[in-house]
Amino acid sequence: MPADVAVETRALRKTYSSLKGRQVAVVGLDLDVPTGGVHGFLGPNGSGKTTTIRMLLGLIRPDSGSMSLFGHEVPKRLPEVIGRVGAIVESPKLFPAFSGRRNLVLLADAIGAPRSRVDEVLDETGLTDRAGDRYSSYSLGMKQRLAIAATLLKSPDLLIFDEPTNGLDPAGIHEIRRTMRRLADEGRTVLVSSHILAEVEQVADTVSIIGRGRLLASGTVADVIGDRTAAVRVGVAEPERAAAALHAAGLQVRPDGAHLLVEGEPAAARITYLLAQQGLWVHELTPVRAGLESVFLELTRADTLGAPDGASPSAPDGASPQPHAPAPPAAPSPPGPDDGTTPSRRTRGGAR
Ligand SMILES: Nc1ncnc2c1ncn2[C@@H]1O[C@H](COP(=O)(O)OP(=O)(O)O)[C@@H](O)[C@H]1O
Ligand SMILES: [Mg+2]
Repeated sequence: MPADVAVETRALRKTYSSLKGRQVAVVGLDLDVPTGGVHGFLGPNGSGKTTTIRMLLGLIRPDSGSMSLFGHEVPKRLPEVIGRVGAIVESPKLFPAFSGRRNLVLLADAIGAPRSRVDEVLDETGLTDRAGDRYSSYSLGMKQRLAIAATLLKSPDLLIFDEPTNGLDPAGIHEIRRTMRRLADEGRTVLVSSHILAEVEQVADTVSIIGRGRLLASGTVADVIGDRTAAVRVGVAEPERAAAALHAAGLQVRPDGAHLLVEGEPAAARITYLLAQQGLWVHELTPVRAGLESVFLELTRADTLGAPDGASPSAPDGASPQPHAPAPPAAPSPPGPDDGTTPSRRTRGGAR
């Protein structure tokens, strides 16, 4: 499948009416999810992730804006494309007393998927060994994987998981991550939302970070982390003398416990060289990445501190360290050949 866009939204907006007035949930959201790979849809609680997903699936209607799945405008053309989409928005109802396999067979029959898919999806989610056990004996992680297995019955190209790791222990989170990776490696697109970035960071190829219904940053994980302060942790005898030597060479150094932290993407070779020149021997040299988590906190903190109404954040756009660019994050698709089937695909969303 050529590089393309699995999910696209433009100027998507949704407000809810409640007793307290209108609640703005999603404000002018432009989302680009490339096909293939895991896309992390990240934002704090209440930032509009579930609302966006429910709009994409045709469960609620947007106030304005446009959406498409694989180039099909939704909700208008949802019937044409929904067969390619599997989603877990709420926990599916499964029978506790039945085995995992039996539950899947019932579901396959209900949705008209071939029973031969059941063993395949058990395998895809790593549940084959426990397929004959009662659902009620499953760990939360296994239950969640069975839910994923259920969405795989119809072989969807796009999987949408809304906070699939909620309530799972670290082992369960790891299982889900591994499952998502595997699905992406099979060529599917996985859109996964989370309010805990660390749960998705390791598995995501691309991310969109939202706050109060707006896109704050998007791109590959590397892009979003960008050139943010990286550092190298240095373990060395005589840290004070070492700090002075590095400082004299123009590096930014600060103590970090018994170690030194050299900031600003320094070359490790240069550090070892400078210290060796002083007869100081390095026993540890660890690159410290500016984690996506700190970027996430930085982006969303500025945003959460703004006006409570969600409609007009007081922070100027310039306050975001990396204002998002309108361009899609993934490798650009080659112009031309893949467009034949859906000529309207590129007509929306403006220049890219
Ligand atoms: N059915 C609803 N009625 C009124 N407000 C809602 C409803 N669903 C969500 N909201 C509000 O919309 C905002 C976004 O919610 P949601 O999409 O659930 O965020 P997330 O999934 O990122 O936690 C929140 O402020 C939430 O309180
Ligand atoms: Mg939610």
